[in-house]
Amino acid sequence: MTDSPDSHAVLKARHRDLAGRNTQIDMTRGKPSPEQLDLSDGILTIVGPDDCSGADGTDYRNYGLGTGTPEAKAFFAEYMEVTPKEIIVGGNSSLQLMYDTLAGAVLYGLPGGDGPWGKVAGGAKVLCPVPGYDRHFAVCEQLGLEMITVDLGDVGPDMDRVAALVADDPAIKAIWCVPKYSNPTGIVYADAVVDRLAAMKTAAGDFRILWDNAYNVHHLGGGIAPLKNILAACRAAGNADRPIMFGSTSKITHAGSGIAVIAASEANIADLTAKMAVATIGPDKINQTRHVKFFGDLAGLRAHMDRHAAIIGPKFERVLTALAENLGGTGLATWSTPQGGYFVSVDVPDGCAARVVQLAAEAGIKLTPAGATFPYGKDPRDRNLRLAPTMPSLDEIDRAMDVVCTCIKLAAAEKRETE
Ligand SMILES: Cc1ncc(COP(=O)(O)O)c(C=O)c1O
Repeated sequence: MTDSPDSHAVLKARHRDLAGRNTQIDMTRGKPSPEQLDLSDGILTIVGPDDCSGADGTDYRNYGLGTGTPEAKAFFAEYMEVTPKEIIVGGNSSLQLMYDTLAGAVLYGLPGGDGPWGKVAGGAKVLCPVPGYDRHFAVCEQLGLEMITVDLGDVGPDMDRVAALVADDPAIKAIWCVPKYSNPTGIVYADAVVDRLAAMKTAAGDFRILWDNAYNVHHLGGGIAPLKNILAACRAAGNADRPIMFGSTSKITHAGSGIAVIAASEANIADLTAKMAVATIGPDKINQTRHVKFFGDLAGLRAHMDRHAAIIGPKFERVLTALAENLGGTGLATWSTPQGGYFVSVDVPDGCAARVVQLAAEAGIKLTPAGATFPYGKDPRDRNLRLAPTMPSLDEIDRAMDVVCTCIKLAAAEKRETE
């Protein structure tokens, strides 16, 4: 009699075989592949000396224009669906803008509040829909902001719980949201969720929705999903100062030298501008000029994102096909089917995620550490895995997924034996 292909012994032997192949593939982080970066190489040569001044003669090679050039503000205002007065065009990293926004809140406070968040009795708190983005959590942890998890469903966070928490506790100052193609589950917030976030009663006068729209235009081939405008919804509900929106071109042009933006009410923009003016004498306006010229208009940017989708869409398909073929119907995993963004989220049996990551590492496949998608790196059920398919080639994805699926089956078989 032969062992079933999914018996512990057979899976162990298969894992040993895979580990002996000397594979080295990194699926840890959502980085664009070299082919995606190549799409934007034209940006490196598109500006010359004649492009370096504004319509009024302002020399963009010099200091100044702390909130961005008028051309970049007009372009990115359209991108973020706000007016040019409601935008700051900054440096290359939206994560840095988020960090600085929260650091400023901790040190000095925000409009509508009664002082620095760092002085809140018992400590200020931030709601974190999970699974979520590890770097959001790292920012909170470093700034001493206590994180409270709320479940993220298919159309947004568990709004009954969010509404109850924020209505009750004035120390809850903010909620993180990645509203379109969320990291890592790929969900898009429904209009009703946006409306509830905008209108809910908050005990804190300076409560903020940290609206990280990092994947605003990052579809996988099916077109860009619509998302209700949070600033317009908040304004309609009488809470114009509630949202602070972030975006960047990190995964549109070159990840290390893109353009990052903040969009918010004019009161928030004035507050953030005053704080920033102490930290910098102005952003890289040549890079802003490069981006505006490279795209021309928003239609140009959208056409560019179609070219990204043509590269990464098939990679996501390979991951999803491997999951379906190897794990479909086994009851060993459930996974997201994203229409955009940079990740596939996989839930394995409770208590198995860390073991899967370890087994995969032994076979040369680096995955995001288990727990990373939860505050403090602790997934209470140790079940969530984040797969980042953009960087590896199609062939590498096939090999990596062979390993990942084997490791999920093996970890589950090991668990069954100890039960
Ligand atoms: C949700 C989210 N926000 C922000 C970032 C980083 O943005 P930036 O490169 O503009 O700092 C990432 C990168 O993975 C992300 O997934």
